[in-house]
Amino acid sequence: MAFIEKESKDLKQYLLQRKYTASARAAMTHILRAKKIESSKGILLPAYIGLSKIEGSGVFDPVLETGINYEFYNLNNRLSIDFDSVESQLKTGKFQLLFLIHYFGCPQCDTEALVKLCHTYNVLLIEDCAHTILGGLNGKLLGTFGDYSIFSIHKSTSTKDGGFYFDRRGDLPDLPLGSNLNISTETLETFANTDVLAATRQRVLNYMNVSKWVRQYEGLELFFESIPDGSVPLNCPVIVADGKREALYNKLVESDILPTALYHTLIPEIGKADFPISHELANSIINLPTHPDITSADYSAYQSILKNAIEEVFNCDTNT
Ligand SMILES: Cc1ncc(COP(=O)(O)O)c(C=O)c1O
Repeated sequence: MAFIEKESKDLKQYLLQRKYTASARAAMTHILRAKKIESSKGILLPAYIGLSKIEGSGVFDPVLETGINYEFYNLNNRLSIDFDSVESQLKTGKFQLLFLIHYFGCPQCDTEALVKLCHTYNVLLIEDCAHTILGGLNGKLLGTFGDYSIFSIHKSTSTKDGGFYFDRRGDLPDLPLGSNLNISTETLETFANTDVLAATRQRVLNYMNVSKWVRQYEGLELFFESIPDGSVPLNCPVIVADGKREALYNKLVESDILPTALYHTLIPEIGKADFPISHELANSIINLPTHPDITSADYSAYQSILKNAIEEVFNCDTNT
């Protein structure tokens, strides 16, 4: 091989090594099944996991299905981890895995430091990147910090399903062929045909605009005061004051804007008495849409509907 070839012969460093699955939860099921065979130790889960009547729980269903032991770790009102408290759980020796969710596509903690802490106690870290495909932190893609990571394709593209995972230790078995964990050809083709980078740019631009509007309104508080460089938020999470979340949600739906509330309902295993902060957040969060189908042509009407809804719900004049 010449020092400088005419064409590239080795693009290994650019290969993403994605292992495609039917969904993020299928990826998680595959990882947990493999790990449960290796060890009887459990998994530490964040105490903010949602449940929906239609979709079940993307995070908790694989835990129940595989029967792996679990315990929850506490999060603060911005879903950040208390390292001391997590360390006391890691120290018990009861766990082989820690599950870290990058909620709404943005990292809530120093992920590198958390991986280090986990490894001190021989615990492997799974990053849940279901809310972002190209989100990063400190110049590195999310999903490349931990030992394993899972992604959801349909949350960031127009497919109806699809996911993938990274096996950065290279110790997981291949997905069983022909099982319901495999991605469909149709989803894979649509994903390959989607300009994810362009969609990501539009999503970030939309976030910047929607978050700028939110800052102007009393009664609303941005969940993220700022987002780290390289973040790709899934939507714009906002805390609604005075118990008005439900009212604002309904008002927006009535006005043809469909927000979500991640997560309005927590799995029953995360009890209110043990995790009051998680429940408070679940009752006050609303996630405003910032997906890439929204363009600058929609901004003026979107902002005006939002403003009217806030004025009506809070019975005030926003003066903006
Ligand atoms: C944080 C998180 N992880 C994983 C999942 C599962 O994603 P999927 O629908 O691709 O299985 C979801 C959504 O349900 C989620 O919100």
